[in-house]
Amino acid sequence: MESYARTRDRLEAYFDRTASATWERLTSDAPVSRIRQTVREGRDAMRAHMLACLPEDLRGARVLDAGCGAGPMTHELAQRGADVVAVDISPSLLDVARRRIPEALHPRIRFVAGDMLAEDLGRFDYAMAMDSLIHYRADDIAAALAKLARRTERKIVFTIAPKTPLLSAMHVAGKLFPRSDRSPRIIPHGQARLGAAVRAAGLSGPLRPVARVARGFYISQAMELHP
Ligand SMILES: C[S@@+](CC[C@H](N)C(=O)[O-])C[C@H]1O[C@@H](n2cnc3c(N)ncnc32)[C@H](O)[C@@H]1O
Repeated sequence: MESYARTRDRLEAYFDRTASATWERLTSDAPVSRIRQTVREGRDAMRAHMLACLPEDLRGARVLDAGCGAGPMTHELAQRGADVVAVDISPSLLDVARRRIPEALHPRIRFVAGDMLAEDLGRFDYAMAMDSLIHYRADDIAAALAKLARRTERKIVFTIAPKTPLLSAMHVAGKLFPRSDRSPRIIPHGQARLGAAVRAAGLSGPLRPVARVARGFYISQAMELHP
């Protein structure tokens, strides 16, 4: 998974340094530009769709928030009673998550700085990967899902950038930030090709689309995989 490691290292540099403050602001309540406001709203809608794939009551459930960023998904999972492993390759975003999530929920959360695929993170009932695989190639996503599937009992819920004319034409998220802190390229995927890559990685469980959000500059497709 050489290209996986390369993409991950570029994302670490981007999210941990180049765009850490931008990302912290985007995921807060602070005022942002109109364009970024659409991204914020789209992301809120997507998080709600993904959470709707899980039972309302998560007490006793072990959940991996893979690429948790500043922690909005972790926060909601812990609030619903889940025991969460919140992992991100960016230690500075993980610090934001730790600061933002109320102390009362911390006993249910293990914050880990590192790779979401690390073997020692444990076993889970559910794994969530919101917008944390969107920069990876289809075969890298498939290999990552195969690794996650080996330690997830029920479902993996993740997003991809769908192959739409707009996304394919301009790799849209790169346009959201000034040139100096452009994000690494988002790679749009068609569901059929991704499905084929997932089968080739040895996964036979159902892979199905659960929701698509297109809000201004935010376009994302949630998928559900049964390991
Ligand atoms: C677009 S942000 C989304 C963050 C969070 N899931 C959310 O929706 O707010 C993508 C995050 O994935 C993290 N990430 C990407 N690849 C990773 C990897 N291989 N292991 C751990 N974190 C990763 C990045 O550091 C970044 O914080």
